[in-house]
Amino acid sequence: MTEALLSALSAVADPASGKPLSQSGRVDGIDVKEGVATLILKPGEEGEDIAALRGAIDAVLTALPEIDRTRVIIETTLARGASKAQPAESQPLTAPARFVIAVASGKGGVGKSTVAANLAGACAKMGLKTGLMDADIYGPSAPRIFGLTDVPGLKKEKGGIEPLEAHGVKIISMGFLVGERDPVVWRAPMVTGAIRQFLGEVNWGDLDVLIIDMPPGTGDVQLAVAQGAPISGTVIVSTPQNLALDDAKKAAALFDRTAIPILGVLENMSFFICPNCGETSEIFGRGGVRAEADLIGAPFLGEIPLHPELREASDAGRLVVSGEGPVAKAFERAADAMLHQAAAAQRPAPEIVFSD
Ligand SMILES: Nc1ncnc2c1ncn2[C@@H]1O[C@H](COP(=O)(O)OP(=O)(O)OP(=O)(O)O)[C@@H](O)[C@H]1O
Ligand SMILES: [Mg+2]
Repeated sequence: MTEALLSALSAVADPASGKPLSQSGRVDGIDVKEGVATLILKPGEEGEDIAALRGAIDAVLTALPEIDRTRVIIETTLARGASKAQPAESQPLTAPARFVIAVASGKGGVGKSTVAANLAGACAKMGLKTGLMDADIYGPSAPRIFGLTDVPGLKKEKGGIEPLEAHGVKIISMGFLVGERDPVVWRAPMVTGAIRQFLGEVNWGDLDVLIIDMPPGTGDVQLAVAQGAPISGTVIVSTPQNLALDDAKKAAALFDRTAIPILGVLENMSFFICPNCGETSEIFGRGGVRAEADLIGAPFLGEIPLHPELREASDAGRLVVSGEGPVAKAFERAADAMLHQAAAAQRPAPEIVFSD
């Protein structure tokens, strides 16, 4: 797919070098998700007509049958350090919440964003002041899951960026900043920069819990996020299939390297609850994730059933956890287990007193 995109992009000239965009060295990242192509470009010349460039890119990419929309992000070094409020890369960030919890997975599509959103919803339901930070730059999901796709965008107040709010959760997402129509100019290094900005410059207020929906995978981006942010612990989401389990181990190893405690492993799409008769069937076998969690010495946080209601709710901007059904209960139990582990991870180790 990437190759087809790059080949289409050769029809667009890079305004700076005059070369085809695909050969100009400006393409820093490209990805397609659910018909939306996200293209990240390195900084161009000052005064570049980015609207025209974006229009040309949009025209060639949406001509491809798989692409419905495009999202163009242009990195820039110009804005770096321009505002005093922007924290320097080296400066340690203060945690915006008592518990900052990253929801991660090795494999994409295991339901991380769905789980992150419903865990956040469960925390809010418990009466905790809760935030959700959608750190997935290529495929931000929070706007859709929380029903915030048609919002006017974020406001930058004097004190910082105002998060949006839905279902009792304060939310920040790349999706609010990177519009599908307008090009966005972003300072580099982009992903870590954006994450730092989200953590450091958003008016989170006095949060109890901030859930971070991590981008999928265990590459440099994830490592950078994990290292750059004051994360108190991570929840690893896996489905019961072996492949997902292998990748979950990789995700666990990544966080181990950064000395961020693993609060636990959560099994998603564990078993199927028939929406008609309520009967349960274990499609992928059950218990594999619990066994894996035991092997890596991580707590097991519970099982979220596979239920069509979850997908329907996400598409409609509802949170299943706001209701009272079995899926909502499963999320509430998992959130409870997660918070329990987060509190335990923060307690100092008991002092051992030796008697003479
Ligand atoms: N337990 C579940 N039951 C039914 N559908 C689910 C469940 N969990 C997730 N889904 C659906 O599966 C799809 C993928 O979920 P989601 O976007 O949360 O995954 P993800 O791990 O965040 O993906 P990515 O790696 O692409 O960010 C969505 O359509 C979602 O509604
Ligand atoms: Mg996701």
